[in-house]
Amino acid sequence: MRLKSKAVLLTGGSQGIGQAIALKFVREGARLAIADREVKALEETVSLLRAEGGEVLPIEADLQDKVQLDRMIDASLEAFGGIDVLVNNAGICRPAPLLEISEEDWDQHLTINLKAPFLASQRMAREWIESGKTGTIVNTSSVNGIQAEANQAHYNASKGGLNLLTMSLALELAQSGIRVNAVCPGFIETRLTRPAIQNEAVITEYLKSVPMGRVGQPDEIADVVLFLASEESRYITGHCLVVDGGQVIKLS
Ligand SMILES: NC(=O)c1ccc[n+]([C@@H]2O[C@H](COP(=O)([O-])OP(=O)(O)OC[C@H]3O[C@@H](n4cnc5c(N)ncnc54)[C@H](O)[C@@H]3O)[C@@H](O)[C@H]2O)c1
Repeated sequence: MRLKSKAVLLTGGSQGIGQAIALKFVREGARLAIADREVKALEETVSLLRAEGGEVLPIEADLQDKVQLDRMIDASLEAFGGIDVLVNNAGICRPAPLLEISEEDWDQHLTINLKAPFLASQRMAREWIESGKTGTIVNTSSVNGIQAEANQAHYNASKGGLNLLTMSLALELAQSGIRVNAVCPGFIETRLTRPAIQNEAVITEYLKSVPMGRVGQPDEIADVVLFLASEESRYITGHCLVVDGGQVIKLS
């Protein structure tokens, strides 16, 4: 087991990519604190994880609220006596043309996708440094943090920021033995992308941009997050690992 007895705090773990990470981590022996703001989905995922024999702590939290974010970290530390791995996975994506993005939309994308990972990572880094322990952080970023996609200015900016945040954290925390990496998924089948996938004309056109010619699955991202969270990646830090079927290597 690659995460045997490791304590993990995972945000946005109740569905999609986060749920796949949760399942994989529990099967690899992790004790898992799983935070989400969607209570019903959280409960369903926790039942699934417990059926796998997982030691799981559900935490209801909206990461836009710093009080709830701090409470999430306090509860995880208290339950497990420390955290070894933080996975900042929660994120939103509500496409809109540039001229129609409201200030509220901009703020929500930047708060959930960038500010919350910053606050959670800073808090955990303080905990690790003050207690003389080390840990690892994995951020779920996106290929939209590397290249711009139309109708996603707010999302692109949040994920571009998350990639540079990943590198900045890695740079300043390396000497404390703390590694920080990101995974950059391409087009993965979750509720965020399902409407497009179910539209034959849209998906056929979209897949022309993916050399491997297919949509990715959440567990294909979870495998990479597991690698970045485990000892197997012990000499890797500040890396944003693209998992996209070859999409970003293509010029046209
Ligand atoms: N699906 C894709 O194609 C794709 C591609 C690249 C990156 N990503 C990223 O992967 C991550 C997971 O996305 P997904 O596709 O699984 O989406 P999803 O909507 O299925 O899952 C996101 C989870 O985050 C939670 N969440 C959102 N805002 C929150 C908040 N304020 N507080 C607490 N929880 C919150 C949601 O409740 C949900 O459970 C996101 O960061 C997303 O940007 C997804």
